[in-house]
Amino acid sequence: MVQAEDPAAQRTKAQAQVVSTWSGRAREQAVQRMFTAIAGVYDLNNTLLSFGLHHRWKQTAVSFVAPVEGGLALDVGAGTADLAILVAPRMGPHGRVIASDLNRAMLAEGIKKVAHKGLTGKIVCLQASAERLGFADDTFDAVTTGFCMRNVGNLPLAIAEIRRILKPGGRFVCLEFSRPVYGWLRTLYDWYSFTLLPWIGTTVAHDSTGVYEYLPASIRTFPDQERLCQLLREAGFQQVEYQNLTGGIVAVHVAQK
Ligand SMILES: C[S@@+](CC[C@H](N)C(=O)[O-])C[C@H]1O[C@@H](n2cnc3c(N)ncnc32)[C@H](O)[C@@H]1O
Repeated sequence: MVQAEDPAAQRTKAQAQVVSTWSGRAREQAVQRMFTAIAGVYDLNNTLLSFGLHHRWKQTAVSFVAPVEGGLALDVGAGTADLAILVAPRMGPHGRVIASDLNRAMLAEGIKKVAHKGLTGKIVCLQASAERLGFADDTFDAVTTGFCMRNVGNLPLAIAEIRRILKPGGRFVCLEFSRPVYGWLRTLYDWYSFTLLPWIGTTVAHDSTGVYEYLPASIRTFPDQERLCQLLREAGFQQVEYQNLTGGIVAVHVAQK
């Protein structure tokens, strides 16, 4: 028997979709509540809902990080630290990676994973907002971010902040959901993300935060491939390029300071 959903849960989910249209502090706080609620199951759900593809997407993104012996890299919105762990070998045996995230619960999962991989001395996890990174100008050889930029309250501010703390010549590698390039794929993807994904979120993951309603809505309100290139250029980045992955469901943007 199909049970009717509790009206309070319905309201939360409807509101979660609306969050994707908000900006500033209100968006930041709403997004953070969702990540706090799902931190413990984030990795498992990520693997299930992307059919394991997120591992390949992350490996491809990291291949755009130029190796720097003894370098210093920053992963913004690091969450459970997957990208930071992949970036670490590219900074050489004496290099370091800072994994920053606004969310303590996500970072706590990241710290456990980093320790499990024996990388505690190499990767430092710390709490920081993408919009207020708090590092000196020209500090990092490379900055990466995976599936974070879509969530920030003020995207142009976060991009400007990332450019500020990069060394001249340093690269910003941004992995994010984008716009599928084929019409048939967009149709399939719309069905998956607006119908199947929220259903899985409710029935399998027992989600009551609305994160699986927020996810597709936030993807649709995030700039597409070309618009993100434009925002990066407007912020002063050069040699801005992107590569579509899985037909443009995801894109990696690479930009140089
Ligand atoms: C979808 S998760 C991605 C985590 C990880 N990068 C990955 O690829 O699996 C998005 C992460 O961005 C973080 N985040 C969202 N808004 C942020 C902000 N304004 N500043 C820093 N981190 C933020 C969230 O807390 C969350 O951990």
